[in-house]
Parts: sequence; structure tokens; C-alpha cells
Amino acid sequence: MATTTESKLPSRDDALALLDEWVQADSLRRHCLAVEAAMRAQARERGGDEELWGLTGLLHDLDYDRYPDPQTGHPRMAMAELERRGYPPELIRGVASHADYLGVPRESELELALAAVDELCGFVLACAYVRPEGIHGLSAKSVRKKLKQPSFAAAVNREDIARGAAELGVEHDELITAVVSALEPLADELGVGTAWRNRVDDATREAARPEPASGRFASP
Ligand SMILES: [Fe+2]
Ligand SMILES: [Fe+2]
Repeated sequence: MATTTESKLPSRDDALALLDEWVQADSLRRHCLAVEAAMRAQARERGGDEELWGLTGLLHDLDYDRYPDPQTGHPRMAMAELERRGYPPELIRGVASHADYLGVPRESELELALAAVDELCGFVLACAYVRPEGIHGLSAKSVRKKLKQPSFAAAVNREDIARGAAELGVEHDELITAVVSALEPLADELGVGTAWRNRVDDATREAARPEPASGRFASP
């Protein structure tokens, strides 16, 4: 029997308004949009519910700006807020499962996909950020080469990236290519389009802004 508390997925406009209310940092907002795009692509590839997967990606770091502390904050406040707003349990569990330290095992394809693309999105954006062409023409081979350089985007955890792909059961190159293709249509919005001058200005501005210890390109 249906109950009055049965949850229904809010619209993307509602989810984006919530994100904009909670997230002030440009870099975090871009990360959330990137993970959404990558999750939508994975849902299409794997027969998942695209809206559900996409909004899980969009909102997974909702509270990182306000409550970055893993001991007491992120992603607990996001989960509580999403529950209060009637988001479905699969989405809230997905958000919980991306934070290893909460100990919620990743079981569904959605949860495995989120873990696989989360950190990788940050790394792909970092690779694209330093190229004059931005994300356009970025190959899996060149992303892999950067992964082998420990000093490049050093805050990004390489082990998480490798483990995420393995647990999702997808070849590393295939996943990198899928993420690049998913992010490319959003290039300008993500700051990795061909407007090199804008990116340099962005980089200067971002460098001047204090950041959480996890680093600019690391996924929260
Ligand atoms: Fe993230
Ligand atoms: Fe996170």
C-alpha cells in the first residue's frame, strides 16, 4: 500500500536549485555537474534510470562546501537534507556509499558507477585544464600518462580511480573515454573549453582562493 511518505524523484531544476543554494565554490559546482554528466552516460550505457543516476551524481557532494569534515559532516548533512526533501532512498544510499568512511557497501550498479566516475571526473578535468584545446581531443592514453605522474593533480587518489573501474567491471581506457565523451559537451560550463585565456584567468582566480585540504581537483 502506498504511503504518503513514498518518495519521488524531484526534477532536475529542483536539484540544481538545491545545489546552488548549498554550493558556493565554482570548482565544487563544476565537479558536481561533471559527475552528473558522467553518471547520465553510465546510466544510458548500463540501462540505469538516467534521471536517478544523474541527480545522484549532481547531489553527491551537496554538503561539502558547508560541512567538509569527514568525521562529522560530508555527506551526512546532504543525506539528511535529501531525506527531508523526499529524495528516493536509492539516491540517498548512493550518496552514502561514495564516502568509504561511512562503511556503506557499494552494491547497486548506480553505487559502483558513482565510485568509478567520481574521482576520475576530477582527474579528467585537471588534464583538460592544462591543455590549450581543453577537453577536446583528450585521449585515454594521455590521461593514463598523467595518472603515472604522481606530481600531477597530486591530491587525486590513483588507487580509488583504479579500484572504481575494476569494481564496476570496466576497462580503464573504456571508462576514461566514456567520461571524456560525457564531459565534452559541457566543456565551456566546466571551464575546459577552447577559451584558453578564460581558463588561465580562472586558474589565477582559483589559486587565490583558500581551498579545503583535499586540493582543488580532488573529489570530495
Ligand atoms: Fe565527488
Ligand atoms: Fe564526496
